[in-house]
Amino acid sequence: MAKTKSKKNVAIKFDTDWKYDPAPESKDHIRLQESYDLFINGEFSKPSSGKYFETINPANEKKLAMVADANEKDVDRAVTSARTAYDKTWSKMPAKERGKYIYRIARIMQERARELAVIESMDGGKAIRESRDVDVPLAAAHFFYYAGWADKVKYAVPGASAKPLGVAGQIIPWNFPLLMAAWKIAPALAAGNTVVLKPAETTPLTALKLAEIIRDADLPPGVVNIITGAGATGAALVNHPGIDKIAFTGSTDVGKIIQKAIAGTNKKYTLELGGKAANIIFEDAAIDQAVEGIINGIFFNQGHVCCAGSRLFIQESVAKKVIRKLKDRMETLIVGDPLDKNTDIGAINSKMQLDKIKQYLKIGVNEGGEMFQTSCSVPSKGFWCKPTLFTNVSQSSRIVQEEIFGPVLAIQTFRTVEEVIEKANNIPYGLSGGVWTDKGSKIFKVTSALRAGVVWANTYNKFDPTSPFGGYKESGVGREGGLHGLMPYLEVEHN
Ligand code: NAI
Ligand code: MG
Repeated sequence: MAKTKSKKNVAIKFDTDWKYDPAPESKDHIRLQESYDLFINGEFSKPSSGKYFETINPANEKKLAMVADANEKDVDRAVTSARTAYDKTWSKMPAKERGKYIYRIARIMQERARELAVIESMDGGKAIRESRDVDVPLAAAHFFYYAGWADKVKYAVPGASAKPLGVAGQIIPWNFPLLMAAWKIAPALAAGNTVVLKPAETTPLTALKLAEIIRDADLPPGVVNIITGAGATGAALVNHPGIDKIAFTGSTDVGKIIQKAIAGTNKKYTLELGGKAANIIFEDAAIDQAVEGIINGIFFNQGHVCCAGSRLFIQESVAKKVIRKLKDRMETLIVGDPLDKNTDIGAINSKMQLDKIKQYLKIGVNEGGEMFQTSCSVPSKGFWCKPTLFTNVSQSSRIVQEEIFGPVLAIQTFRTVEEVIEKANNIPYGLSGGVWTDKGSKIFKVTSALRAGVVWANTYNKFDPTSPFGGYKESGVGREGGLHGLMPYLEVEHN
């Protein structure tokens, strides 16, 4: 930072070009194997096809490890092992003993938190600040929370008895790999089920580390099975006759395929799908605080968040001011090395996702939107997208209606509460939303009128294991988190 002193009066000049020194998190303690096998029946075993695929670091395109590609035979082995563990061990065990195992997983996750955070950032591209402060602690918190439920399930529904379903098939995406594994596995185990989980093909490594943790926690073999592969492996799991429930988080398109595939079977399901959240800022809001929340809402995790506040509605009288402040704040965001502790925005998860985002930027411009991108430079290798906002868009613009899943904010203005509620709801999705105002009455009015599963007021992207999360309309079916998240893993019989 440059300082100059004049002789008479002291004038301080700040050089606006200063930069943070690099502060990379160490990866010396990370031990990755050349290749990873399938975690079935408490041990790692080779895929029957002998096939492996690569997982890379999206920040530099370098290979991290080879990962087993599970086919139908492997899926069958995993489901059979889960069934045997359910019949012979897990369902027979006293609930309080099941709880102890779940606590143990949480404790080991905490002990290995740094390792998990670094691997999460390497495999998926997210900033270490997020994997370290959000993903990993929250994942452990879910195991702690649901461990507490294990011996209380019989009191969960007064006047009824609740039983586990059996074997749960679980398929998760690449945006919060370890956290999504925790959201799925913890309630399933607490309710007394056994599990076959498939992580996403671009981010399998923390799930495989979780497999090691589960083995180290001494869980009876087969209670949790973790198999890797792409869409075909997921489809084989969905279609396996031996599963009682499917829990899926991912795209709305695949969610629909799953619904069709299991129609007419007895399989239960929960689907957590896409979103296009509206963040609504009224003229009476604390503007600086709101700007910070909007930034967090859309640029957190490169916008790879189903509940990202990707649509912004600003009350007309403060629109100019808010947009100016947003652009100024965006300029200060640091895009780059996910392992650097100063990084705000890491790498886009895959080339495929980056291509999709770029496609939407083109669509936005072609539709007449005015695009603003920050002037930061991005590394030459890897997949990167500068923080972007669009003004001059309308309700019918594709970038307003469709999920982009990247750091791209579409801004519209409004005059009245009624108008903004109508606009915010006029969308196929309904996962989340945000409202920024000084008036409690407005908060109640807007939050109860928004057709969305979660609405934050004067904050954004806050999660807690005790609160349910899930969507309306094409954003999905069922809830995860809290007691609500336990129920889809139980068969409730009223006495
Ligand atoms: P995807 O829905 O294809 O992948 C999610 C998971 O489903 C992965 O584990 C994948 O292997 C598995 N899968 C794929 N096809 C399957 C099938 N036919 N049956 C069973 N499992 C299957 O999502 P993708 O292609 O990675 O991303 C595409 C778009 O989806 C993104 O651009 C984003 O808009 C949205 N998305 C939404 C997420 C959310 O959290 N709601 C998470 C990831 C993606
Ligand atoms: Mg990867």
